[in-house]
Amino acid sequence: MKGVILHGGAGTRLRPLTFSGPKQLIPVANKPISQYVLEDLRSIGVIDVAIVLGETFPELVQQYYGDGSRFRVRISYVHQGKPLGIAHAIYLCRDIVQDDSFIVYLGDNLLQKGVKKYFEKFLVNDYDCMILLKEVDDPSRFGVAEFDDKGSLVKLVEKPKVPPSRFALAGVYFFKPVVFEIIKGLKPSWRGELEITDAIQTMLEKGYKVGYSFVDGWWLDTGKKDDILYANLLILDEFGVREIKGELIDSKAEGRVSVGEGSKIINSNIRGPAAIGSNCIIQDSFIGPYTSIGDNARVFNSSIECSIVLEGACIDHVDRLEESLVGRNARIVKNRASNAVRLHIGDYSEIEL
Ligand code: TTP
Repeated sequence: MKGVILHGGAGTRLRPLTFSGPKQLIPVANKPISQYVLEDLRSIGVIDVAIVLGETFPELVQQYYGDGSRFRVRISYVHQGKPLGIAHAIYLCRDIVQDDSFIVYLGDNLLQKGVKKYFEKFLVNDYDCMILLKEVDDPSRFGVAEFDDKGSLVKLVEKPKVPPSRFALAGVYFFKPVVFEIIKGLKPSWRGELEITDAIQTMLEKGYKVGYSFVDGWWLDTGKKDDILYANLLILDEFGVREIKGELIDSKAEGRVSVGEGSKIINSNIRGPAAIGSNCIIQDSFIGPYTSIGDNARVFNSSIECSIVLEGACIDHVDRLEESLVGRNARIVKNRASNAVRLHIGDYSEIEL
């Protein structure tokens, strides 16, 4: 069994963060989202992994994952460039996958309980393809499954205006290599992409054995800022640990709080679950639950809750920062001389005052 992680896409909904890196490398609980994906694949014994790279700083992905040895896997890279569709990205992996079955995992998707149970079902049933479905409130945003009266899967539709069910296609797919032949015969959709829903739909029509499983536990598609904050909350809630490596000076760390090496927490209160990276300074501040602070960040006289503050950012005299995603080396500093707001912000940034 091989693994394919999709690390391309434009990431427009996550600008400005995707001006300096691909969305799948954005850290959640201080670890890139796609690393959870890689670790999930590794946990079921998948060693050979292809990572499909897009146009957004592909070199950062290669720098981070290297040849995969740090993660006990072997990684090959495939350059997709422009996002011409999930099926297109999969097709580019045909020489790496060869005659093996494989799992495709969107690099910005997270499953609470991992893929193990579904992987076993795929193998036991000898499916040509198996998809994962999850009931959602807003199916129009996703590929959606249609069932007949007997409950059999009959159709998949991409982002339908009138959804045939509330079951969305989660971003994990299992295939036998026959899918490459199917993709070869596809035409681009109205949005110019080779659609994975069309590939699976064709497999259904041609009588291939297409199975499905309902996702047990949460599934997250972290395409937007609020999805990333929610992922941070769920991951800290589920996997947050207490591990204090840095120094607590006249400070309290309550519950599942991790503090990385070289960090100094001075006259502050950290309430878990929360993750503080390495070499941070937190002074005269409150860091509330569901907050992740990246390496080398500094927080002074501030209160932060349910937020992600990335590496090297500085927050100074901010009374209450909530549900915020602060980019690398960003500075948020109270103007103590006047009430005026003075900004120097990047394109597509959002500020709520
Ligand atoms: P999307 O979330 O649709 O990707 P996007 O980055 O284009 O999003 P946005 O609308 O914000 O611009 O794609 C789902 C996942 O699949 C994501 O991890 C990116 C990946 N992907 C590829 O690797 N190649 C592709 O051609 C496409 C369409 C997506």
